[in-house]
Amino acid sequence: MNTDPETVVGLGLDLIELARFRAAWQRRGDRFLERIFTEHERRVCLRRRDPVPELSARFAAKEATFKAIGTGLRRGVRWRDVEVRNAPSGRPYLHVSGRVAEIARSLGGRRLIVSLTHSADTAAAQVMLMGNAGASPWPEDLIDEET
Ligand SMILES: CC(C)(COP(=O)(O)OP(=O)(O)OC[C@H]1O[C@@H](n2cnc3c(N)ncnc32)[C@H](O)[C@@H]1OP(=O)(O)O)[C@@H](O)C(=O)NCCC(=O)NCCS
Repeated sequence: MNTDPETVVGLGLDLIELARFRAAWQRRGDRFLERIFTEHERRVCLRRRDPVPELSARFAAKEATFKAIGTGLRRGVRWRDVEVRNAPSGRPYLHVSGRVAEIARSLGGRRLIVSLTHSADTAAAQVMLMGNAGASPWPEDLIDEET
């Protein structure tokens, strides 16, 4: 069993302009939502009179997660690999699957922590990948050739 202390092994931050998100949804319709968000996320957000702030914050959480694992939207990573859920208190947490879960684990990650915010104009999310870097060094295949 790995008893090393937990540390931050990845960090991601993302900021979304609500007007740009709204325009993308209007232009591309509900297929845009279906590509990005899980059924659970759509159900939660579409209950709102204006779902755009909640949807944008969840969009930001996905991008912040992609940054925390260091890939962006590459290496087989998909939007719906990251799902934002809420505890009964309202506190958000992430459920990850697919390549996101695999890459997070390969970095020594054991859990992700997320924080969301939204205002009249913007939404933002911060994500931390917690784990044990020493137990699982940064994998070679995540280092770009030019670095
Ligand atoms: C990194 C990513 C997740 C977000 O990029 P973005 O939203 O376009 O840009 P942001 O301004 O939020 O972030 C840019 C910063 O991300 C950081 N970044 C870039 N690649 C990164 C990576 N692989 N891992 C972690 N951080 C990264 C950089 O610091 C960059 O700033 P810099 O160029 O000044 O150094 C991007 O890789 C991505 O895949 N975005 C998907 C965007 C998309 O498809 N949008 C269409 C909507 S359907």
